Amino acid sequence: MEKQEIRTFGRRHGKKLSQRKEYLIAHVLPQIAPTTNAKILEIGFGAGEHVRQLAQDNPDAIIIGAEPFINGVASLLSAMTDEKDNAILPEYKNIRIFADDVRIMLKNSAFKFNEIWILHPDPWPKAKHEKRRLLNAEFLTLLSRHLEKDGKIIIGTDHWEYYEWITERVPETPLRIFATNLETIKTRYQSKNMAGTDAPKYLILQNG
Ligand SMILES: C[S@@+](CC[C@H](N)C(=O)[O-])C[C@H]1O[C@@H](n2cnc3c(N)ncnc32)[C@H](O)[C@@H]1O
Repeated sequence: MEKQEIRTFGRRHGKKLSQRKEYLIAHVLPQIAPTTNAKILEIGFGAGEHVRQLAQDNPDAIIIGAEPFINGVASLLSAMTDEKDNAILPEYKNIRIFADDVRIMLKNSAFKFNEIWILHPDPWPKAKHEKRRLLNAEFLTLLSRHLEKDGKIIIGTDHWEYYEWITERVPETPLRIFATNLETIKTRYQSKNMAGTDAPKYLILQNG
C-alpha cells in the first residue's frame, strides 16, 4: 500500500463560488488538463497572478499551475476567461491547471520542466506543524527528478526562518544552490517585483 502523504495545504474550499466560477470549474477546467509537453510548472499558485504572468512572458511554452484550493483555481479561471462567453483569452491559451496536490501529478515521471516555481509556500511556522512543510528533502528530491537538464527550481519566500530551513535541506537532495538572485532567471519579473514592499528572498536550485 502507498504511504499516506502528509497534507501540506490548508483548505480545499473557501466561500461559496459564484455561478460563473461554478460553471468554469465544471466546463473549462476539464478542457485544460496538464499535458507532458509543458515546460514550466508553478506549484501552489494561490489566485494565479504569477501563472498568468508566466503565460504572457512565455507565449511559446505550456505552463502548468497546480493548486488544491478550489477558490484559487476558480479565481485563475475567472481571470483567464472572457466574462461574456467564458472563452479562454488568447494570451492565456497556454495555461493548464492541476486542481489538486501537485505530488499526485508528479507520480507521472514523463513530466520534465525547465522551470518549477514555488512562491510563498505555506510556512507552517509552529514546530508541531513542521512536518507539513512542502519543501522538505523528499519533495525537493522528487522535483529534482522532474527537471530537464539545466532546469531550475525557483523558490521565493518572505518567511526567513522557512528560507533558512529549506537551504539546510538542499544538501540532503541531488540539488545545489545555483543562485539566490532572481535576476539570474528573469530580469523582467524582478523589476516588476521591485515595486512591492517586502521583497521575497529567492533560492534557485539546479541538479548538482
Ligand atoms: C501561502 S499560499 C501562496 C499562494 C501564491 N503562490 C502567492 O504567492 O500568493 C501557498 C499555496 O500553496 C498551496 N499548496 C500547498 N501544498 C500544496 C501541494 N502539495 N500542491 C499544490 N499546492 C499546494 C496552498 O493551497 C496555497 O494556496
